[in-house]
Amino acid sequence: MNYRHSYHAGNFADVIKHVLQCVALRYLHTKEKPFWVLDTHAGVGMYDLASEEATKTGEFMAGIARLLERTDLPPAITPYVEAVQQLNPQGEVRWYPGSPWLSALHLRPQDSLVLCEKHPYDSQLLAANAREFPASRQVKVLTATDGYGALKALVPPPQKRGMVLIDPPFEQRDEFDQIVTALSAGVRRWATGTYAVWYPIKDPLVVGEFHQKVKAIRGVEQVFVVDILVRAATDASCFNGCGMLFINPPYGLTQQAGTIMAYLTPILAQARGAEYQCLML
Ligand SMILES: C[S@@+](CC[C@H](N)C(=O)[O-])C[C@H]1O[C@@H](n2cnc3c(N)ncnc32)[C@H](O)[C@@H]1O
Repeated sequence: MNYRHSYHAGNFADVIKHVLQCVALRYLHTKEKPFWVLDTHAGVGMYDLASEEATKTGEFMAGIARLLERTDLPPAITPYVEAVQQLNPQGEVRWYPGSPWLSALHLRPQDSLVLCEKHPYDSQLLAANAREFPASRQVKVLTATDGYGALKALVPPPQKRGMVLIDPPFEQRDEFDQIVTALSAGVRRWATGTYAVWYPIKDPLVVGEFHQKVKAIRGVEQVFVVDILVRAATDASCFNGCGMLFINPPYGLTQQAGTIMAYLTPILAQARGAEYQCLML
């Protein structure tokens, strides 16, 4: 397990993932009934963009830093940017929230969040950070735990409504297949939950195959995908973009995704050929 998200926090991929995560979480507020969120690959929850790791790559400069300069944010993106600004009251770009913090921010008193991180050291850091999260008493951290195993073990949640966020590091060649297996097991146990999966795009054909495999899972009906290329995918060995796949996508998300991506794509573009797609499969 070599991947450390601290090198990549706040990059274009985090912006896409976290904007869509926040839109999906806000949709869960439309009903009073409690919801449950499982983050299978949680990371450490909070990132210092002044750290050696973050400054070494400087990836956040082509991500969140570009958005914080904007004065024309569409309403669908504003809550995410305001959440980041709330962590940086002096106006600098220093602290960047991970997916666990953003989920915790959306918890109402009746809701709960489970965070799973496999890396022994990072999961301890996550547990320490989570004690400072909003609604921290409603947050449970599973340290040194495999997220796919947790998904299988914990669904369906007693609340019967909510979301599973799957955001692996893609260090393993068969990560797409592991996700399909985990989603099959999840949907078999909890068909009505929302599942949100983040993935990198190197070769768009590989991603297209993944979409079709998810769509073919027994019990899966609605699949919505949002993809961005930050440059033309002419070299399939490069990190050309990323996407999010949703099973049982929140209605509000499918409605707003086009507006969100039309706004973000030119801002996050890194070279010619940047484009996006939002597709209901
Ligand atoms: C992309 S990072 C997560 C970033 C986080 N979701 C966010 O948006 O802030 C992926 C994380 O998954 C962890 N990880 C890798 N394999 C795992 C597994 N099988 N189960 C749980 N966590 C895993 C890595 O240690 C890493 O911290």
